[in-house]
Amino acid sequence: MRRHNLCLRCGLKRCVYAFMFVLSNLAILLSISTLNKFYPEITNFSQSNLGFNQNNYESLENTPNKILGTIIEKLVEEIENLHDKSKSSRKDQLQLKNEMLKQASFLTEILSLTSSLRNHLKPPFGNDNASSRYSLSKNNKPYDEILDYFLIEEIRKYVRVKPNRLGKQNFMGANGTFTSIGHACFSMKQELEEYMDYDVGDICKDDWKLAQKLMVHGCDPLPRRRCFSVAPKLYTKPYPINESIWKLPDDQNVRWSQYRCKNFTCLARNSTGKGFFKCTDCFNLTHHELPRWIEPSYADPKSNSTSDFLVRDILGLKPGEIRIGLDFSVGTGTFAVRMREYNITIISATINLGAPFNEMIALRGLVPLYLTVNQRLPFFDNTLDIIHTTRFLDGWIDIVLLDFVLYDWDRVLRPGGLLWIDSFFCLKEDLHDYLEVFDMLRYKRHKWIVVPKIDKDGNEVYFSAVLEKPSRPF
Ligand SMILES: *[C@@H]1O[C@H](CO)[C@@H](O)[C@H](O)[C@H]1NC(C)=O
Ligand SMILES: *[C@@H]1O[C@H](CO)[C@@H](O)[C@H](O)[C@H]1NC(C)=O
Ligand SMILES: *[C@@H]1O[C@H](CO)[C@@H](O)[C@H](O)[C@H]1NC(C)=O
Ligand SMILES: *[C@@H]1O[C@H](CO)[C@@H](O)[C@H](O)[C@H]1NC(C)=O
Ligand SMILES: *[C@@H]1O[C@H](CO)[C@@H](O)[C@H](O)[C@H]1NC(C)=O
Ligand SMILES: *[C@@H]1O[C@H](CO)[C@@H](O)[C@H](O)[C@H]1NC(C)=O
Ligand SMILES: *[C@@H]1O[C@H](CO)[C@@H](O)[C@H](O)[C@H]1NC(C)=O
Ligand SMILES: *[C@@H]1O[C@H](CO)[C@@H](O)[C@H](O)[C@H]1NC(C)=O
Ligand SMILES: *[C@@H]1O[C@H](CO)[C@@H](O)[C@H](O)[C@H]1NC(C)=O
Repeated sequence: MRRHNLCLRCGLKRCVYAFMFVLSNLAILLSISTLNKFYPEITNFSQSNLGFNQNNYESLENTPNKILGTIIEKLVEEIENLHDKSKSSRKDQLQLKNEMLKQASFLTEILSLTSSLRNHLKPPFGNDNASSRYSLSKNNKPYDEILDYFLIEEIRKYVRVKPNRLGKQNFMGANGTFTSIGHACFSMKQELEEYMDYDVGDICKDDWKLAQKLMVHGCDPLPRRRCFSVAPKLYTKPYPINESIWKLPDDQNVRWSQYRCKNFTCLARNSTGKGFFKCTDCFNLTHHELPRWIEPSYADPKSNSTSDFLVRDILGLKPGEIRIGLDFSVGTGTFAVRMREYNITIISATINLGAPFNEMIALRGLVPLYLTVNQRLPFFDNTLDIIHTTRFLDGWIDIVLLDFVLYDWDRVLRPGGLLWIDSFFCLKEDLHDYLEVFDMLRYKRHKWIVVPKIDKDGNEVYFSAVLEKPSRPF
């Protein structure tokens, strides 16, 4: 406002002169800071010989970054001033208003140039404590280490803190954006560098398998890439939803290069050597998948014991209460199909272990979630009505890991939500330990059954349970 009055008093001409003076100062600052990069000793010269009026330049430290920071601040201030003024100027000063807007856009341009200059000036190893100015962390060790560690420029660009434009907090309350990668990426430097070695804007290599390997081994999240992912050569539109669910998808819609089978018929066939062992029958929709969770299956015809529960029975436990949920399994999404018939939305989390499970689920018209067991679930606390799991958590899993996983599931389940452990199998002698872990949740038991698994000399057992999360009102 002060400046506004000043302008009105002194007239347009003076105002423009004053403005040009500010601009020229900025230009000098800019050029000095650029020179500084190459000739640091010039700073002394500039400080002693160029008496910058109005600027409390003495208090500035002589790092180009600080100078640029000041320039940016001043530019932002000036742009805001101009915008304020142009808003408050009256109709008859239309010309003045246009002039101001023009200046504002000019300044904005300079601002973006300055910002990009700042990014260039950033020392490659981040030892200017840059990240600590934007993050909650008081020491910026992880960022420095990453920048030190990786040689591929795209990785360094990705993990570097991205300060907000205009240097202010964004709507999320952060001063910058902190793109992250899994810490285990460090132990797979070579693979990660291979993964990130591409040309920006080009087509990526067909390397989803390398990506998945990195993820499974703890480089999760992976860095994003700036290349276009390879798509199937001829993508045909998926079948309409009333047909897609129970029909093998079109082979053309999947990239088969990294699989042993090269088409869905091969995956569905009852044969060995398909390249995966969990859920080998899952692509046989007509025989294997169709009756699942609809009719009980008896592994041993002689006994009538089964670890399968039926969807109808489980939903009967809480009629109308189950609406959304997660299926953390290895499979082709049939559980989600069955729940869909009850108007329940299930997200199927799986990775592509030897077969295109994610593509299959998507082509059937369901929601696949490409997620490893390494990561916290991407859902908020107390949100889901049901979590179902089968053929995934089995006797291979470490007890402590299972503990972490179950607590995470507990976190996302809402009070009164159901946890459906479906045919968890393990060695007989391990059963006790595992059951203790499941018991640790102190959920209400709706169903709880242990049946012998007949194929491995009776050494293994199946365990199934449907448990309800209690409310914890404290
Ligand atoms: C700048 O000048 C100060 C004294 O004014 C001196 O101590 C310092 O070494 C000089 N720096 C450079 C880079 O010449
Ligand atoms: C964000 O920047 C402001 C000053 O621009 C600073 O006061 C604040 O502490 C910073 N916030 C964080 C989380 O670093
Ligand atoms: C940078 O951070 C280190 C500790 O992490 C600190 O000792 C040093 O003084 C900082 N440097 C600047 C310029 O803030
Ligand atoms: C699926 O729906 C379309 C129209 O929505 C219909 O033309 C087609 O016959 C249906 N297919 C089946 C198998 O019901
Ligand atoms: C599917 O792939 C198998 C080999 O993986 C091949 O023998 C068979 O002919 C293919 N079937 C079709 C329909 O392409
Ligand atoms: C599914 O399995 C059944 C029996 O195991 C078999 O007869 C059928 O051909 C299989 N379906 C496909 C598409 O291979
Ligand atoms: C499918 O394979 C399983 C074992 O791999 C076998 O028990 C079953 O009889 C086979 N079914 C057909 C129809 O070949
Ligand atoms: C299962 O079979 C046993 C005998 O083998 C019988 O006692 C029991 O009632 C049967 N249970 C069911 C649910 O059919
Ligand atoms: C699912 O929703 C549809 C449409 O709202 C309704 O016609 C159908 O009866 C519902 N199915 C169940 C099992 O509630």
